[in-house]
Amino acid sequence: MRRAIVPGSFDPVTNGHLAVIKQATALFDEVVVAVMNNPDKHPMFSVDERAQLIRASVAGLAGVTVESFSGLLVDYAKQTSAVAIVRGLRGVRDFESESDMAHMNRVLYPSTVTVFIPTFPEFAHVSSSLVKDIARHGGAIEAFVPAPVEQAVRAICNKHIVR
Ligand code: PNS
Repeated sequence: MRRAIVPGSFDPVTNGHLAVIKQATALFDEVVVAVMNNPDKHPMFSVDERAQLIRASVAGLAGVTVESFSGLLVDYAKQTSAVAIVRGLRGVRDFESESDMAHMNRVLYPSTVTVFIPTFPEFAHVSSSLVKDIARHGGAIEAFVPAPVEQAVRAICNKHIVR
């Protein structure tokens, strides 16, 4: 059983993330989407809300589970016996930071290999932070996120809740 982790903040999950998760299911027997619980950040959604939105968005995709983790990613990789950490790459800007993380993680825990999956061109410009910014200013986000996320973001922005 070859298990991979797809870690991230997922605040919220986007169509770009979903494409990477889907591609990971073609490579690994089991894919664990791991939502980072980082108390230092000020997310729009709680870690449980983010996990729930991912679950609603990956429903029907076999072999995918959604969990959360705190602390070092490599410790979580070790605990879950993951053979790979999967990260999506949108371009060279991502590659610079992602390769630093991959090298660090390899030094810390060489048993888990980082695998990069290039994004589809239509998602190259999509990020959670841009989606939130567009929504906060009243723009349409349904081209970038799955329906459950669009509804949840819209509900927050309509209530003018600043989190
Ligand atoms: O979606 P993001 O915010 O780009 O995900 C970043 C994430 C969660 C992969 C990264 O911040 C991470 O691994 N955090 C856990 C703490 C850790 O292991 N830090 C050292 C990385 S070299």
